Amino acid sequence: MSRLFAFLAFCSTTSAFAPSMTGNTRSSDLCMANPTKSVFLTPETAKACIECAGGTPLYAYSLEKLEESANACLAFPNAYGLTVRYAMKACPNSSILKYFSSKGIHIDASSGYEVRRAMAAGIPAEHISLSTQELPADFADLVDLGVKLNACSVSQLERFGKHYAGSGAKVGVRVNPGVGSGGFSKSTTSFSKTNVGGPSSSFGIWHELVTDGTVPAIVEKYGLSVERIHTHIGSGSDPEIWQQVATKSLSFCKLFPDVTALNLGGGYKVGRVEGETTTDLQLIGKPVVEAFRQFAQEEGRELKLEIEPGTFLVAMAGALVSTIQDKVITTGDDGHTFLKLDAGMTDVLRPSLYGAVHPITLFPASGNTGDVGDETESVVVVGHCCESGDLMTPKPGEPEDLAERALRKATIGDICVMDGSGAYCSGMSTKNYNSFPEAPEVLVGKNGETFLIRKRQSLEQIYANEIAVEV
Ligand SMILES: Cc1ncc(COP(=O)(O)O)c(C=O)c1O
Repeated sequence: MSRLFAFLAFCSTTSAFAPSMTGNTRSSDLCMANPTKSVFLTPETAKACIECAGGTPLYAYSLEKLEESANACLAFPNAYGLTVRYAMKACPNSSILKYFSSKGIHIDASSGYEVRRAMAAGIPAEHISLSTQELPADFADLVDLGVKLNACSVSQLERFGKHYAGSGAKVGVRVNPGVGSGGFSKSTTSFSKTNVGGPSSSFGIWHELVTDGTVPAIVEKYGLSVERIHTHIGSGSDPEIWQQVATKSLSFCKLFPDVTALNLGGGYKVGRVEGETTTDLQLIGKPVVEAFRQFAQEEGRELKLEIEPGTFLVAMAGALVSTIQDKVITTGDDGHTFLKLDAGMTDVLRPSLYGAVHPITLFPASGNTGDVGDETESVVVVGHCCESGDLMTPKPGEPEDLAERALRKATIGDICVMDGSGAYCSGMSTKNYNSFPEAPEVLVGKNGETFLIRKRQSLEQIYANEIAVEV
């Protein structure tokens, strides 16, 4: 057992988190106490991460927070059994996959490459389910190894059926039930970059093709066995919506007598900043249990529940740690003080992509809590890319606009911690844009110990696959 995993195995549960964001008021040199802790880092532990990674930027992950969220998911209310799958696209580092696996959590993969990556990390094939927008050419090799496939389109089901015709092969069917969570918009049916269900979403087989007999006919034609129904609409934190989703999803299970499990996907929202709600899994799970019990009474089948959170498991367990490498001032009515990080959309794309708001805490370069001080300043925080969209403080609700935040008054060289960066950051960014290397990743243990779990990419690795031609 490696030092890291011996250590992981030893760890136990604890924790609490209070997001700290000082607001968007425009005023300079406000006088208020500055935070001496971000979600899980102090100036001292942030500095230890920087030393561990050999500089900034870096991603830091809290083992304590990972454990807390894993335990919450594993306690999701269920009537007849539960499998928790980690949507690994949220943060695919092998140490995180292995840690969740050690807790009994399985994997949701979004591509053939993710399946292979999880297996390379030691995850057993039977613990991986694949729901993908692009069926890999070698899908049958993966299925033969034990990977569970959810057909996400009619054409995927046809391709699966042709390969396994007459064998009674087991398959899952991902259904688009006709509504989505709305994501960052309020509508449940119109387009939003984070809406994963409804007529504006291409994910899953449109529900009418399930109920009008099209899908059952394909299943019959190839002699397949549908063992799992899958829906993922990013259902948020409202128990009523979860009940509706569960009931609607169970209605699809009625059409396939071999179904043994219903996967309700992920989408459990977390509150990163004030005013955003963190999903209470116990609350949203209760009506889901009732719906499963009622199904069992009516149909005589006790279905297992599957959930596959990404955000909930890792979002608040990760932070981007960077250095303020420049400070720029513009004047006039529209003038601002800009803090420029040595990180940006190359590391955390969510603010540029969705207008997502992340908590930001500034620490002194010394890494000493005693140097935090009281002075604050209203600033706009931007990334290091030559790109006007590389903005870390968008206006809440108006992603095209910028906002000032009152933060600790900082100077060049100070440390910036951007919390809520565990999900869809390291794994989803414009990495290598402007030829900035992929940032390293550091795992922080319960007593502040640091473990490098990914090295910083070198410049040579960025262009290693280029082939020079004389033209
Ligand atoms: C099929 C599927 N499952 C699970 C997830 C994880 O969602 P979240 O990170 O919102 O929990 C996603 C994300 O889009 C998904 O597409």
